[in-house]
Amino acid sequence: MRILVTGGAGFIGCNFIRYEIANYDDTIICVDSLTYAGSLNNLKDVADNKNFKFIKADITDEQAIDDIFKEYNPDIVVNFAAESHVDNSINNPNIFTKTNIFGTQVLMNACLKYKVKRFHQVSTDEVYGDLPLNSEKWCIESAHIKPSSPYAVSKAAADLLALSYKRTYGLPITISRSSNNYGPYQNKEKLVPNSINCLLTGKKIPLYGNGLNKREWIHVDDNCKAIDLIVRKGREGEIYNISTNEEKTNLQVARAILAKMEMGEENIEFVEDRKGHDLKYSMSSNKLKQELGWKQEISFREGLISTIDWYLENKDFLK
Ligand SMILES: NC(=O)c1ccc[n+]([C@@H]2O[C@H](COP(=O)([O-])OP(=O)(O)OC[C@H]3O[C@@H](n4cnc5c(N)ncnc54)[C@H](O)[C@@H]3O)[C@@H](O)[C@H]2O)c1
Repeated sequence: MRILVTGGAGFIGCNFIRYEIANYDDTIICVDSLTYAGSLNNLKDVADNKNFKFIKADITDEQAIDDIFKEYNPDIVVNFAAESHVDNSINNPNIFTKTNIFGTQVLMNACLKYKVKRFHQVSTDEVYGDLPLNSEKWCIESAHIKPSSPYAVSKAAADLLALSYKRTYGLPITISRSSNNYGPYQNKEKLVPNSINCLLTGKKIPLYGNGLNKREWIHVDDNCKAIDLIVRKGREGEIYNISTNEEKTNLQVARAILAKMEMGEENIEFVEDRKGHDLKYSMSSNKLKQELGWKQEISFREGLISTIDWYLENKDFLK
């Protein structure tokens, strides 16, 4: 099979490509415009693989995308390409609308034209909006969506567009909504690598507000395995949540990093809260577990330790 992976030079995309190349003999065509968040360094170890091809292109460029589909005729498209940082979406929302919504539409138009067998949209728990900190509710896939930030809204809109392409044109789509990922190759704008980088450069870990906002954390390898299962075995038109229910406050994450790096809590500073900061997200992954047999393999405890070790061994990545 030929699998076209967009955004494959970014964090989750490059880990997904690595997983696919290690486990299958399929051809992987990576399409990425190499924004500040993408780098060919993230793909160095697969660059020379006979099954791998990289193409620099923007998913909002209709002509470029059409040319790529015409030439490579992919069987499957997995769309990781996105503007992914909530803080950036607060300061500069327009590019989020363009890349995350219009870019997804450009890809789906090409999928229809070239009769792609599966379009998979990589989405997020943020589309469900937040829950009170003390809530014990879990969102299932049919829950109402009420995204808060411009980022979350752009992802929710892309999800709805994908569902509309299934219903209106019969495009065979699937959608995965995962919780917060951590692991190797994550841009240092995000909490875990940013915290490690701050500690390595003599700065304190900045935490928004009182640090008590909660997220569910998943190791990127567990997410990539889930996406692979959904892409290959998930039912057309379906949404699958991917979550571990390993709920941690940002403060707990910072403390775990400090403990592993043998540093004290004086290395945390509380900074002005993010505008409209979501309190907590919580999802059930029962559908994914029951239908496709997915299970979490990496606990937050062991995953965070191996992740910190990776950044310590790859300090150049943080530069
Ligand atoms: N990181 C998380 O915790 C998380 C959680 C849930 C969902 N997601 C979703 O997973 C996907 C990947 O996230 P990530 O953390 O790897 O993001 P990332 O920011 O690390 O990578 C995004 C990649 O997309 C590329 N890109 C951006 N705009 C593009 C465009 N117009 N054309 C082509 N390429 C473009 C970038 O160059 C980069 O390589 C995103 O869709 C994101 O919304 C991420």
